[in-house]
Amino acid sequence: MAVDILIGLQWGDEGKGKIVDVLAPTYDIVARFQGGPNAGHTLEFEGTKHVLHQIPSGIFHSHIQNIIGNGVVLDPIVFRTEMQKLTDRGVDAAKNLFISKKASLILPSHRVLDRVSEEALGSGKIGSTLKGIGPTYQDKIGRVGLRVGDILSDDFRECYNKLVERHRSIVEFYGEKLEVAEQEQAFFEAVDYLRTLQLVDSEYMINNAIREGMKILAEGAQGALLDVDFGTYPFVTSSTTLVAGACTGLGVAPRHIGEVYGIFKAYCTRVGSGPFPTELLDEVGEEIRQAGREFGSTTGRPRRCGWVDLPSLKYSIMLNGVTQLNMMKADVLTEFETIKVCTHYRLASGEVTDQVPHTLDTDKLEPIYEELPGWKVDLNKIDAVEELPEPFKNYLAFLEEHLQVPITIVSVGPDRKSTLKRDAVIA
Ligand code: GDP
Ligand code: IMO
Ligand code: MG
Repeated sequence: MAVDILIGLQWGDEGKGKIVDVLAPTYDIVARFQGGPNAGHTLEFEGTKHVLHQIPSGIFHSHIQNIIGNGVVLDPIVFRTEMQKLTDRGVDAAKNLFISKKASLILPSHRVLDRVSEEALGSGKIGSTLKGIGPTYQDKIGRVGLRVGDILSDDFRECYNKLVERHRSIVEFYGEKLEVAEQEQAFFEAVDYLRTLQLVDSEYMINNAIREGMKILAEGAQGALLDVDFGTYPFVTSSTTLVAGACTGLGVAPRHIGEVYGIFKAYCTRVGSGPFPTELLDEVGEEIRQAGREFGSTTGRPRRCGWVDLPSLKYSIMLNGVTQLNMMKADVLTEFETIKVCTHYRLASGEVTDQVPHTLDTDKLEPIYEELPGWKVDLNKIDAVEELPEPFKNYLAFLEEHLQVPITIVSVGPDRKSTLKRDAVIA
């Protein structure tokens, strides 16, 4: 059986958690393959909102095995709090959660390194979530990091001390002193807890499942435009957020990939620094922020808002081989008379293109918009695609014609139930 993959096509927070939760009942396994506590995936059902950071969004279905794959960077302290929250809500997550022994460990000193390195960047800062993501991936690639499997070794404490000494000298290079004694205690308590869980060779678990015909959904974190290679570098995260990341982050060969769900908002948002061509710095942007409650699920920061950007969506679709599109948060645009869509960029040279150039800096390009009529109907009140208003159907058709991929899911509210499935036909 194939592994289906769900990924964000913009700068994250597209609504991946919601759709994984919606699709999960048709799968046997849900697996995270990259990122870590920088992610915040929101699920809403039965009147309760849940935000997951490192635990896969299939966790609320007890028949589903949830895997934290080798490509993930795991913070034991954050993880323990997340597990406790689930326990408090009556979810016995330990039963259907499996953690790769090859997943990387985020140490308290990685978080300090994230902060001092951001501070040193000054006005050029990335806007990191400060969860230690970049420094942990640096140690992984630098071949000095610690992994979940290491906590089972007798010399784990020594290996930990050795890595922290290394971090101490880097922090001193930045002119600060490394103080982690307090978090260290919480870290080792969390590591003790981690040892009681199901730590596995997840690459074998997943490949055996593929052989047995089980259905697997890989859950991406962040979004394609935050990818370390193809995103708006250097304003990106430190992992491969693309479909390719699911191969290395789970140990799945490319030939096993099936459907690729590409999630995008009916508009666009970004948290942190970096270029955002369609950003609205006026009252329209503020209106979208308020209507869409666009404040970060992990850091609470206000998200920057703007119109949907087709050149960057085409780019993300191309890089990921997207087979189905899922449009999120269309209900947020209810109040607008007209909706703008960026179809092309005009470069400084005057050239008009629908390709993403080397840099998306707004002083080097200008978005070209088409304006479409708004629908002025509360989509959240609609529960069948046939009832969708004509102007909204036209909006969908317009995007499909440009993107050449069917929009098979339209999400019209945060709740699990506010999800319309659609048989799309592309003109
Ligand atoms: P993720 O990181 O991609 O999982 O997305 P987040 O959870 O960070 O952000 C998406 C936000 O939008 C969450 O607060 C969701 O509850 C909410 N949301 C998801 N789908 C919809 C939708 O269709 N309409 C509205 N209004 N909110 C939605
Ligand atoms: P989900 O999975 C939105 C952004 C940060 C910052 C940049 C680098 O919820 O969609 P990092 O902490 O990774 O070093 O930060 O990436 N970022 C996200 N933005 N959603 C996320 O995850 C993000 N994870 C990281 O704001 O700009
Ligand atoms: Mg999020």
